[in-house]
Amino acid sequence: MQTLAEKKLPGLGFGLGLRTQHYQSILETSPDIDWFEVISENYMVRGGKPLYFLDRIRADYPMVMHGVSLSIGSSTEIDKDYLRDLRLLADRIQPAWISDHLCWTGIHGQNMHDLLPLPYTEETASHVAERVNQVQDYLGRRILLENVSSYASYVDSTMSEWEFISLLCEKTDCLLLLDINNIYVSSYNHDFDPKAFIDGIPAHRVQQMHLAGHHNHGDYIIDTHDAPVIDPVWDLYRYALERLGQVSTMIERDDNIPELAELAHELDTARNIAAQVFQSSPVEKSLVA
Ligand SMILES: [Fe+2]
Repeated sequence: MQTLAEKKLPGLGFGLGLRTQHYQSILETSPDIDWFEVISENYMVRGGKPLYFLDRIRADYPMVMHGVSLSIGSSTEIDKDYLRDLRLLADRIQPAWISDHLCWTGIHGQNMHDLLPLPYTEETASHVAERVNQVQDYLGRRILLENVSSYASYVDSTMSEWEFISLLCEKTDCLLLLDINNIYVSSYNHDFDPKAFIDGIPAHRVQQMHLAGHHNHGDYIIDTHDAPVIDPVWDLYRYALERLGQVSTMIERDDNIPELAELAHELDTARNIAAQVFQSSPVEKSLVA
């Protein structure tokens, strides 16, 4: 593998997650969306309708791959079959980049189907870094790792989440997928300043941002991806752009999924905030019918 430079990949603009409910309207209306993020595992199959639609939509739009099952933080050996299938999908759709979460999802073959946080220690950073390097070597490219929403923390942690992420970046030269909603959720649940998180992240490694909605239960927030982005998260997004510069951004909606036009309209809010921050022309309205 060639020496990895501390340089970001070209940006893509403003995207949405590709969801089955929108396949037909994307093909019929060619919406003004710059790119789509696909959930890798949904397409790591041998055939069928999802791949049929994936190929047709890929012909018209750039794509990135986003996984949920790499379990980069686990102590169980990385699943070689999973990596093989991930690479096959990448060969098929030639994504601009590949991401997964900085978390663990299970151990000894048991999948918890949840994105579980890690203890933020030197030992954990070394352990995860070795695995990130293994994955990057196998895929022949840098991967993006995403900060997760969390509801528990470890008494063993010796550093903040952003210090841990920065250390991991130094050890692996990986890139980052910064989920602004997840920062907000975790800051609420663990009572830290979300701006300190953004201030502590190496700006030159942030390749992509996620935005999403959540459910606030008063004492805590659950990250549900079933509602529009709330104003404090938009404010945090503006702060992140001011500090980090232009970053490819998308909205994640995984439940209570509205019409494509509604999500495209929500994405215009991100476009307009970026236009204000970088003093370019605002978007009047979405071009999606
Ligand atoms: Fe996310």
